[in-house]
Order: sequence, then C-alpha cells, then structure tokens
Amino acid sequence: MKRILSGIQPSGALHIGNYFGALKQFLALERDNEAFYFVADYHALTSLRDPQALRGYTFDVIVTMLALGLDPEKATLFVQSDVPETTELAWLLTTVTPMGWLEKCVSYKDKVQQGLPAEHGLFAYPVLQAADILLYDADLVPVGQDQKQHLEITRDIAERFNHVYGKGSEVFRLPNPYILETSAVIPGLDGRKMSKSYGNTIEIFEEPAAIRKKVKKIVTDSTPVEAPKNPDTDPLFGLYALFASPADRAEMAERYRQGGVGYGEVKSRLGDAMVAFFEPARERRKEWLAHPERVAEVRAAAADRARRAARTVLDRAREACGVC
Ligand code: TYM
Repeated sequence: MKRILSGIQPSGALHIGNYFGALKQFLALERDNEAFYFVADYHALTSLRDPQALRGYTFDVIVTMLALGLDPEKATLFVQSDVPETTELAWLLTTVTPMGWLEKCVSYKDKVQQGLPAEHGLFAYPVLQAADILLYDADLVPVGQDQKQHLEITRDIAERFNHVYGKGSEVFRLPNPYILETSAVIPGLDGRKMSKSYGNTIEIFEEPAAIRKKVKKIVTDSTPVEAPKNPDTDPLFGLYALFASPADRAEMAERYRQGGVGYGEVKSRLGDAMVAFFEPARERRKEWLAHPERVAEVRAAAADRARRAARTVLDRAREACGVC
C-alpha cells in the first residue's frame, strides 16, 4: 500500500487533458492505496483574481472528481486551503530553496511569457507544490508530463532539507512521479498540449452538442481521403484511441493505413465516443449538484483527515529545524 497524492487547480472547468493525464490514474490508484487528492486553490490564486469564480470552480472540481467515480470513503478529497499547515511548510521549505532552481522553471517562464505578471507567488509556486507533496509523505504523484519538473524540484528540496536538518534520519520521504507514457500529453484542438491557457480544450462536462462541434474544429492536415495515413502520428487518431474500444481502435488504425478514411468521419465517430464515454459521469454529476450539502460533508470530513496527516509531518519538520 502506497501513499498517493495529487492536486488539480480550480482555475476553470476540467478538460479531457486533466482526465487522461491525471484523473483516470487517480481512480485506478485509489483502489489499493491510501490516496489524497486535492483542489489546489492556493495555487489558483496565482492566475485567478475573482473570489466568486474561485469558490465556484473549487466546488466544481470536487463535484467533477466525485462524478467521475472517485470514492470519498477510499480517497481523501480535500481542498488545499482547508489545510493551512501547507503554507507553513511552504515557508520552511522556501528557506532552503535556491533562487536558481526556481529561475529555471519552465512553467514560470511560460506563464510570464503569456502575460501573467511576474509576481512572487507565481515564482514560488513550485515550493508550495513541494509542500503539498511532502506534507503527506507521498510515495507516488500521478500527474501529466507538464508537472515533471515540479516533481524534480520537490525531490531536490526534500533532499536539501533532509541534508541540512536530517542528522542522519529523513525528515521528508522522497516522492516519485507517476506519469503514463500513453497519456502524458493530451493534445488540444490545435494539436498543442490541451490547456486552458491556450483556449484549445474540450471540457469533460460540456454539453454533447458543444463537444461534437469542438471535435469538428480539431486541426488536421490536408491528406486526401483515399491516401493512406499514419495513425501513430495523427493527433486526431490519438484522441480517438483514448475513447474507442480496443476493437474499434484496431479497426480504425487498419483503415488509416489502407487509406479511404476521411478526417470528417473520424471526427464524427470521435464525437460520439466522447459523449458516450462521459455519459454515466454526467448522470452522477447531476445527482451531486442536486445535493450540495453532501459535497460539503465530503469536503469537511476530508479536511479533517488531511489535516491530521499533515500535522504529523509538519511537526516533524518544525522539530528538525528548531521552530518549536
Ligand atoms: P493542473 O491543474 O494544471 O492540471 C491537473 C493535472 O492534469 C494534468 N494535465 C494534463 N495531462 C496530460 N495532457 C494534458 N494536456 C494535460 N493538461 C493538464 C496535469 O499534468 C496535472 O497532473 N501544479 C499542478 C497542480 C498541483 C499539484 C500539486 C499536482 C498543485 N500541487 C501537488 C501534483 C502534486 C497543476 O497546475 O496542475
């Protein structure tokens, strides 16, 4: 049994990149492990400045996780800011984090390039993420490829703290990333990584008609219908493969290689497959939305469990560095 931990920012409605890159693994790992999954609202403050929207998305991310089938009895589904111990640990970690490690972070540079102001919260984002992970003695952290560098920095910070204060014993457990090769980077409508900030997403719970409309917009090349196509390099096929049954996937791959399949047909089959895939979750979502008090109960019980786990590690860290 391993400790699993991961988080998702409530900076918008979750999309299929979040699903295949992270949430699907959350579901698989909660079964035989001790899982902690959280809504990273402190992190979202680095890009979202609308309190009502932040509260709304935070609720929506919990509901999305529950609708997709995460079991609140098995996994602890909490909200990051319900565990304020996180920010205290982030400060302890920040005191051993060299500026140079944060300066080389790609996601910081990307976000500043996209026009976000170069603020300290954005710069220190990876230290807060390290606190999230180390606070729960996590063994495995299921994420998409874009989080790999943050995981490396987390390990570096943990090792540094252990080295400075550990006196031969470990203060922090070193976590490992859990990144599946087949879903490390899910492409968006324009072929780049699916991301809210690129405006190329398909949301999990978008209306079926909107899903079909967006799928039609997926960028394809101009290979004619009759020409053979390579399924392994076609992003549209990549998406189809995620949703289709193994038999449908194999058949479509064969037809790609032979030629005679048009992108229009693939898109229409992808739209149908996508809508059908999330249909059961769509139904469960309606039920949770009809009972916000149950969502609040899940959140409160999880906060309790998470805080207890966090306290143990925070006390260990405080003791090690002498702030107690
Ligand atoms: P966030 O909120 O951007 O994304 C949540 C998860 O979805 C994955 N993901 C993708 N995977 C594959 N293809 C894509 N197109 C795609 N888009 C998103 C992300 O890799 C992530 O796993 N910093 C984190 C949140 C966080 C966190 C943590 C994660 C805060 N603290 C501690 C793990 C552990 C983030 O911004 O993820």
